[in-house]
Amino acid sequence: MEKFYIATAIDYVNAPPHIGHAYEKIASDVIYRHFKQRGVSSYFLTGTDEHGIKIQKSALDKGIDPQAFCDEIVEKFKNEWALLDVKYDRFIRTTEKDHENVVQHIFKTLFNKGDIYKASYTGLYCAGCECFLNERELDQNGFCPDHKAKPQEIMEENYFFRLSKYKNKIIEHIKANPRFIMPDYRVNEVLNQLKDIEDISVSRSKESVSWGIPVPDDESQVIYVWIDALSNYLTGVGYLNNDELFKKFWSANIHMIGKDILKFHSIYWIGILMAMEIELPETIYAHGWITVDQSKMSKSLGNVIAPNAILTAYQLESPDALRYFLMTTTPFGRDGNYSDEDFKNKVNADLANNLGNLLNRTLTMLVKYFDGNILPEAITSSENNNQADMTEKTVLSVIENFNDYEISNAAENIIKLVDNANKYVNEQAPWALAKEEETKLQCAQVLYNVLETLRQVSVLIYPFTPNISREMWVQLGQEDNLSDVLLSDLKWGGLKEGKITSAEQVKPVFLRMDSELAGDKKKK
Ligand code: MSP
Repeated sequence: MEKFYIATAIDYVNAPPHIGHAYEKIASDVIYRHFKQRGVSSYFLTGTDEHGIKIQKSALDKGIDPQAFCDEIVEKFKNEWALLDVKYDRFIRTTEKDHENVVQHIFKTLFNKGDIYKASYTGLYCAGCECFLNERELDQNGFCPDHKAKPQEIMEENYFFRLSKYKNKIIEHIKANPRFIMPDYRVNEVLNQLKDIEDISVSRSKESVSWGIPVPDDESQVIYVWIDALSNYLTGVGYLNNDELFKKFWSANIHMIGKDILKFHSIYWIGILMAMEIELPETIYAHGWITVDQSKMSKSLGNVIAPNAILTAYQLESPDALRYFLMTTTPFGRDGNYSDEDFKNKVNADLANNLGNLLNRTLTMLVKYFDGNILPEAITSSENNNQADMTEKTVLSVIENFNDYEISNAAENIIKLVDNANKYVNEQAPWALAKEEETKLQCAQVLYNVLETLRQVSVLIYPFTPNISREMWVQLGQEDNLSDVLLSDLKWGGLKEGKITSAEQVKPVFLRMDSELAGDKKKK
């Protein structure tokens, strides 16, 4: 693989971000960091979707201009992503000038080609979805099933995109490319939706929506939000603006989006790209949704949780625990749930007890028995070495998991390796081996096996928990910059002889939440 381009959905700015938005951005950040660890030149795009009736209304309710309203909320998104260590290459806003140019260019090109035409239309518009729904999509009360609201009947003269022209080509593409829609259990849903796909409205009258990009050469219409939003994936990577960047990174290797907007990506977006004769993305990955205490987050239920609220409530110095929890709470792709109880239990078990304690007690023994030194005779070879073997297999399985974007499985495999190393220490009882002169070397070898395993674990788990990993790495006496270490560098024996640590340097890398120590820290 020569390059890797990952793009998230861009979030509506009618309200600040919650842990559902964060889920997608963290997953993308984890994948991005992993591909960088493969030495692949990678690009990560995220941003905000700022036009449309919903945002226009929210701004009006607050009595401010829509642009000022967007500017305010966008800062909240950027702050959250910074707090969560989500490190994108570009944050695109659909109100940016380069984007407006791209959207108008696409509109014009398709119009000139005859793929966009004007017609009058009567349809059912759901403001929540920012789209027209057909009768079959409504529930038995005639409501939008996602937003539990009655769509508005709208009669307008609009521009339409000839999506029906591309219907068969889209079906063929989906069938011929098993990695195009992932996870594969979502393919049938899209093929079913394709059965009754019609041409789609791509503009709204200016009277109904004024907050949008104007249709070129027709002042009475603005470009409909989905065309505007989807094209961000091109603008964000330099389309019409930075040829070098665009040539290098397009097409997207993965669009990371929620299951609710799969139709827009796998049908509408693909139709537009086909009409524009632009290369198609490799994968559209529809992830599941996060609920809170098993309920959908909603303003009316008052259960909308901002990521920063969790970090503050638990006085967490880094976002690692939350990142780790969200990425492992459910098999990636499926719906998941956040509860305080599950959060505490999971991170205490995996990060504090399993991972943190193992590092802490092994380094403590190294200090106690060998003054923090790795003896040259203690360095084990990888031959006939169970720990080395398991570590090597875990590196391979993590890579395989990431090939299929099975993020939660990757994390699970890493923790399994740690779990095994814990069992190994308990079986070998290095504290007993240290007592006798003739078994002292054996003790040093056991400690080496565990510490070398943990050195590799800190690299493997880095995309999930970058701060804890860095702390582990440093405590293991490693000097390179952890973010520059490649998976291909992970050869058994990387932990070299010499003094790697001292009593002052050994400290817990992650405190149990609600532990006395954590309590103490909170008080300070
Ligand atoms: N603006 C559109 C996307 C345009 S992409 C060209 C939109 N915005 S959104 O703010 O409603 O959602 C943004 C992303 O967050 C979507 O992928 C959506 O699925 C995801 N999520 C919103 N709530 C979520 C959860 N509760 N859980 C997981 N993801 C969720 O749709």
